Amino acid sequence: MNHAIRLYIPRDTAAVAVGAEDVVNAIEQEAQRRELNVDIVRNGSRGLLWLETLVEVQTPSGRVAYGPVDVTDVVSLFEADWLHGGPHPLFHGLTEEIPYLKNQERLTFARVGVTDPLSIFEYQAHGGFQGLEKALSMTPAAIVDEVVESGLRGRGGAAFPTGIKWKTVLVTDADQKYIVCNADEGDSGTFSDRMLMEGDPYALIEGMAIAGLATQATYGYIYVRSEYPLAISTLEDAIAHARAAGWLGRNIRGSDHAFDLEVRQGAGAYICGEETSLLESLEGKRGLVRAKPPLPAIRGLFGKPTVINNVISLATVPIILARGAGFYRDYGMGRSRGTLPFQLAGNIKHGGLVEKAFGLSLRDLLYGFGGGSASGRPLRAVQVGGPLGAYLPESQWDVPLDYEAYIGISAMVGHGGLVAFDETVDMSEMAEYAMAFCAIESCGKCTPCRIGAVRGTEVINKIRHNEQREEHVYLLRDLCDTMLAGSLCALGGMTPYPVLSALNHFPEDFGLPRTSTTTEVVD
Ligand SMILES: Cc1cc2nc3c(=O)[nH]c(=O)nc-3n(C[C@H](O)[C@H](O)[C@H](O)COP(=O)(O)O)c2cc1C
Ligand code: SF4
Repeated sequence: MNHAIRLYIPRDTAAVAVGAEDVVNAIEQEAQRRELNVDIVRNGSRGLLWLETLVEVQTPSGRVAYGPVDVTDVVSLFEADWLHGGPHPLFHGLTEEIPYLKNQERLTFARVGVTDPLSIFEYQAHGGFQGLEKALSMTPAAIVDEVVESGLRGRGGAAFPTGIKWKTVLVTDADQKYIVCNADEGDSGTFSDRMLMEGDPYALIEGMAIAGLATQATYGYIYVRSEYPLAISTLEDAIAHARAAGWLGRNIRGSDHAFDLEVRQGAGAYICGEETSLLESLEGKRGLVRAKPPLPAIRGLFGKPTVINNVISLATVPIILARGAGFYRDYGMGRSRGTLPFQLAGNIKHGGLVEKAFGLSLRDLLYGFGGGSASGRPLRAVQVGGPLGAYLPESQWDVPLDYEAYIGISAMVGHGGLVAFDETVDMSEMAEYAMAFCAIESCGKCTPCRIGAVRGTEVINKIRHNEQREEHVYLLRDLCDTMLAGSLCALGGMTPYPVLSALNHFPEDFGLPRTSTTTEVVD
């Protein structure tokens, strides 16, 4: 048999959803028929989702990309001599030179789509476990200081400084402490957690082990939403491999440090992503929000001090330890240090994942990367930060993506998801949907959210149908004030963001005149 040519075909859910498995089978069959030897690596996705299934061919000058490859393209690709980088309408040249990828700053996602996700050898060959090696030689306080210094803030939504959270757990005495990874990823249009878990699971495992060393927690749980079966199986395999290689267990790499972890499947409710509700769910109870204080860092899982962090926060820690806090904090602006994997979704031509330092604008993402709307019509509104995020009109698309700058316009960066809408969107419908979402997903513990969201849905519906419109707008604003100020958690507390941003920026969709008062933002 001739020398095997290496192909990379993602096993990422986004690729599998558009037929990657069939593409793999078709390529194997065609190669066999032609007596050609191919070695197929199932990598993570590069995040250029409109090109999935993206097949990369290893050539002497580097990996070249073909996509989107469908089963029906396979014969013509072989005929074009693609195994030697031959020209074809689906050819994009060197993968790393595709502008969408080349113009990114991939730190957390450096290996995603590059390596075989389950190969510890490749993980280490690309810098993996260097952070944990370093942490093993440091005191817990020094590890915490490094994370504080890096400026890393929680990527799950609230942007709380990760190192400060860890410090609280470290200084709280207890016979057992836990690290919990929040992989519930419930925000609309978001998929960075999933891509990371499927494409580079060891980065998360390494980050959690470092968090364990830093806080003296010896056990961890990854709470993954049930809709992510591939992420769950990839993590389970990776945990078993890491344990077998001595990176987890009683004596990590022969040291006297212990850390182990397991995966738990989520309960399928948006509120189970809220940290205290998640802890209830992990304990086997219904996902109901707990009143704070006490903070989970002091009384968390099973009443013990618990670090609870998002996937991206934890998976970013290894590079901070390996390269140093200064390296990481050199990226970004203001108090938003480092990079964020933005996720482009909705009515966008080039949907996918873009990891960039904080400070770029929504316009850069929408047009520089996203290529404008998928429909070809002008874009009109973008919801940033999930279902509780504000709808931003074009006048706000040049505000730098920075936590504080977004707070300044009553919006939030959150988990970095953005969902684009073209000019055909009815923003009053979006506002009604935001309230209805809150009503459906409410845990029911507090009145402003449990009752308010139901009444709010009705009131918006009346505004939309011109029933005592002015009076109901007044009532809606009053209700939003109550929800903002009186809700126990951010589900009820932030639903007014999408609702009021729609009302304030797009009054004409509610049958209201565009006046100076209607463009006021939430405060
Ligand atoms: C309704 C609601 C849903 C949430 N869903 C998620 C989620 O799916 N994933 C997540 O990481 N954080 C979610 N959060 C934020 C968590 O409560 C918490 O802030 C986060 O897990 C802390 O990790 P971080 O500091 O690394 O961001 C949610 C918060 C609320 C109020
Ligand atoms: S705001 Fe809603 S989800 Fe949050 S505690 Fe209150 S009822 Fe539960």
